[in-house]
Amino acid sequence: MSDDKIYPVPEDWANNAYVNRAQYEEMYRQSIENPDEFWRHHGYRIDWIKPFTKVKNTSYDPHNVDIRWYEDGTLNVCANCVDRHLAARGDQVAILWEGDEPDMDLKITYRQLHERVSRFANVLKKLGVKKGDRVTIYLPMIPEAAYAMLACARIGAIHSVVFGGFSPDALAGRINDCDSNLVITADEGVRGGRTIPLKANTDKALSHAPSVQNVLVVKRTNADVPWTEGRDVWLQEEMEQVSADCSPEEMSAEDPLFILYTSGSTGKPKGVLHTSGGYLVHTSMTHQYIFDYKDGDIYWCTADVGWVTGHSYIVYGPLANGATTLMFEGVPNYPSASRFWDVVDKHQVNIFYTAPTAIRALMGAGNEHVTKTSRKSLKLLGTVGEPINPEAWEWFYNVVGEGRCPIVDTWWQTETGGILISPLPGATELKPGSATLPFFGVQPALVDNQGNLIEGAGAGNLVLRDSWPGQMRTVYRDHERFVQTYFSTYPGMYFTGDGAKRDEDGYYWVTGRVDDVLNVSGHRMGTAEIESALVAHPKVSEAAVVGYPHDIKGQGIYVYVTLMAGEEPNEDLRKELRDWVRQEIGPIASPDIIQFASGLPKTRSGKIMRRILRKIAEDDFSNLGDTSTLAEPGVVNELIEHRQNRA
Ligand code: WTA
Repeated sequence: MSDDKIYPVPEDWANNAYVNRAQYEEMYRQSIENPDEFWRHHGYRIDWIKPFTKVKNTSYDPHNVDIRWYEDGTLNVCANCVDRHLAARGDQVAILWEGDEPDMDLKITYRQLHERVSRFANVLKKLGVKKGDRVTIYLPMIPEAAYAMLACARIGAIHSVVFGGFSPDALAGRINDCDSNLVITADEGVRGGRTIPLKANTDKALSHAPSVQNVLVVKRTNADVPWTEGRDVWLQEEMEQVSADCSPEEMSAEDPLFILYTSGSTGKPKGVLHTSGGYLVHTSMTHQYIFDYKDGDIYWCTADVGWVTGHSYIVYGPLANGATTLMFEGVPNYPSASRFWDVVDKHQVNIFYTAPTAIRALMGAGNEHVTKTSRKSLKLLGTVGEPINPEAWEWFYNVVGEGRCPIVDTWWQTETGGILISPLPGATELKPGSATLPFFGVQPALVDNQGNLIEGAGAGNLVLRDSWPGQMRTVYRDHERFVQTYFSTYPGMYFTGDGAKRDEDGYYWVTGRVDDVLNVSGHRMGTAEIESALVAHPKVSEAAVVGYPHDIKGQGIYVYVTLMAGEEPNEDLRKELRDWVRQEIGPIASPDIIQFASGLPKTRSGKIMRRILRKIAEDDFSNLGDTSTLAEPGVVNELIEHRQNRA
């Protein structure tokens, strides 16, 4: 690893960024040696109604996992993201919205944001939403998605945003898990020139989600949509009827802000619960320091608000900092593969944060789509969601950034609330493919499978040895699952589920999940979820799902299926099963490869040996390991023989 390419910190960055190398080292040391003092100081970056006196109160003891930050302070997250900017920057653009079509955009100033969010909050109140209630948001990337989140925060309701690409069934499961009584959706979404029937999907979901009393509908396309009188309400009509004044609710630092469902290695998606004070300190601070956000910068994160990146780095972090945050409704290749760079030029974007999968796809489309645009406004690039391969990193750096812009490769998770491992552009030398060094207060470590700490350079399971303010607090209504999932594998430490290497310079190289979680185009999916969707199909007897390396998506979904007696494997059935998974979960879970098998490799006790299935999917037959414990060793050869070629 010693001959890794190194990109030094450019001199102007070292001189002008918030943090240079010496400052990083000093601040990091303080944050570890005296976390209370460090986070007390930085806690005051946000406005408190009642100031906190306690800072950190956290325990990773598996018998008593309990995480609290700033617990006796009170605040309102929405007021921090909106109201407090009115005096100094009321007329500055808060949300810069770029629609799916290149001729559509909107500029929403902080003053306008304040009015719209206040009205929105009053609409929620009129519909009976109270502090602590759960509100499900199923919206496309339109400003109303941000208004809805902030309006919930304003009145103390807990939002649960469900990605607009999820199916009615997936939506229903998420509504039921948290007993939402309100769903906010749109008539339709628009992406890449195509419409998505969000209202119709919601109606389908509600046929098995009895807790919902009202559906608040945003008009996006004006399409004719099914309507249930008494239940369904148009947002725009209601907004006009309510007052533009809504005073923010005083919330405790540890009151829930949102639930976000994410996939784990087993069972149903879990409701990751984030709270208010620590989350906002962490997201705003990382947004400022890692993106080196300065007043006047135009900042663009291309994520969807349906994922945590959209929560923390489109909405909460940037708005808490009074930033101009660009929100994009469309996709990278519509109307052409130049779209990202056209938008960068059109809005003079300075900071651009995206996913490796998008970079790889655009890299494949050819350099001319990039080089015909100017991109002179860009000064910093960022990536998130999965490991970035050095080739894609170099392309992003050299072709998109023309060698001018540092890249911050940011490692974090839904559970961590905000970025934990990342370069700081004025402080950290870059190595393509490495998320580099921990942010302030973050203590990563590597352990072997027995939980022994690995010192120095090496590889192992990535754990975090102590808490940080943005950490999730629990799994909604299932604290036991929280403890089991994250704190029981290596007692006393938070287990990330990722594997990583650490080099001689202490740089972290996150290699990917070590559990049964897939990362497909930066979207997290549990193999168990896809398997249970498949076995719900009447013709399927058994299914096993594994990942395999995919050039664009990072990982592809490889499915082994055994059929019920009498069913014939054929192309039609393959298509039927693909459509079935799309319907049960959503297009993002659609299998890339389906292999029909007469049997799956199992131990004598009946456990499917995924290790073998993974190897076959990866085309790596040389080292299948010990197959002597298999109940029927012949199965393996048959699987290899009928291995499906990659798409
Ligand atoms: C992966 C997204 C390598 C990792 C914010 C993690 C990464 C999972 C990186 C979380 C990165 C995220 N380098 N791997 N920079 N960022 N990951 O919850 O496996 O959707 O555990 O959160 O994505 O995915 P999630």
